[in-house]
Amino acid sequence: MKDPGFAKPHAGTAVAPTARAYLWLRESGELWRMLFDQNLAGVFCSTVDGQMLECNLSFARMFGYDSPAEIARRPGADYYFDPADRQRFIEKLRADGWLRNFELTLRKQDGAAVTILENVTLLPAERGQPAAMLGTVIDITGRKHAQEAMLRAEKLAAVGRLAASIAHEINNPLEAVTNILFLARTHSEATPALRELLLLAEQELARVANITRQTLGFFRGASEPATTSMATILEDALALYQAKIRAKNIRLVKQVRFNGLIHARPGELRQAFSNLVANAIDAVPDGGNLMLRVSRGRDWRTNMPGVTVTVADSGLGIDPQHRKRIFEAFFTTKREAGTGLGLWLTREIVLRHSGRIRFRTSSRPGQSGTTISIFLPMASA
Ligand SMILES: Nc1ncnc2c1ncn2[C@@H]1O[C@H](COP(=O)(O)OP(=O)(O)OP(=O)(O)O)[C@@H](O)[C@H]1O
Ligand SMILES: [Mg+2]
Repeated sequence: MKDPGFAKPHAGTAVAPTARAYLWLRESGELWRMLFDQNLAGVFCSTVDGQMLECNLSFARMFGYDSPAEIARRPGADYYFDPADRQRFIEKLRADGWLRNFELTLRKQDGAAVTILENVTLLPAERGQPAAMLGTVIDITGRKHAQEAMLRAEKLAAVGRLAASIAHEINNPLEAVTNILFLARTHSEATPALRELLLLAEQELARVANITRQTLGFFRGASEPATTSMATILEDALALYQAKIRAKNIRLVKQVRFNGLIHARPGELRQAFSNLVANAIDAVPDGGNLMLRVSRGRDWRTNMPGVTVTVADSGLGIDPQHRKRIFEAFFTTKREAGTGLGLWLTREIVLRHSGRIRFRTSSRPGQSGTTISIFLPMASA
């Protein structure tokens, strides 16, 4: 572009040169070119079939290309449009002649998703020429993610409040019933058989009290850290599922290669591992395999020493479309049978222990399965 000579303001004549430059730009047609090139929004003109006729740098960058020329070399629009979305887009554009604030999720050159907001005007076909459209596009991917993250955080906070308030509300009547049971059991008229029953009731109630204390503790983050044996924690987690494991004829393999004493909150870890075991049991078919391993490990990012616990199953694996979401609160594929809180909670507990969690999964027939690994540093809590 030629230098319009307007970049040097001098005293007293600030308005005139600016106006002259503007007129010059407008008359030479450069004004629109400059606004086009400099626009932070993507601006484009393409055939309705998607062949790019012209676009600016912002548009090209939005889709992962280095230059407008590079994007113009791509044939058609299928490389960045999902066919169903494209259908919806074209139908609406043909029906109305324009689109305003139309939201779409498209693909970048590297396959990553980009969510855009688009304004488009249809330029009707003439004398055998294909119809074209011109439009502007802004990238709202970041805004969408932030909104989703906020929604998730809000949901989690709500669950926390709810669980804590339920636990709290249960505590008072629980104490009263515990006291009543004690009085009944030690009453002079109670027969030995009745005493026995009341003692059982007291013990069961103590378990309920323990659960509410743990729930409150979890949301307060107050359960006491202690020297904890990972092998014992795993045994405890397994103990809860003995009956299920037997009923499903699951072949259980335990490998304790390392005593794995760490400083952690045992109650929380028990909860974390029992969630993993429960998922594995749900996932395997009758006669399937479940493998648990405790070994010396290192943080796969910082190389810090600690213990790695692995829970592997020979189930169907996790569907590729679900893999990104399994740690989300309320994400479940089990309908009414699942709350979708298991893995979310597990991950929260692991992160609270400065640990890491990752998984590998395969749905390939004959060798399908899922392996979840948790690393916990020596001084976890
Ligand atoms: N070992 C596994 N094999 C296959 N899919 C799994 C496995 N573990 C988790 N998943 C998938 O991840 C989803 C989320 O798991 P998560 O434990 O959070 O919830 P859930 O098991 O569905 O419900 P809840 O734990 O409350 O019973 C499951 O619904 C399932 O689709
Ligand atoms: Mg679960």
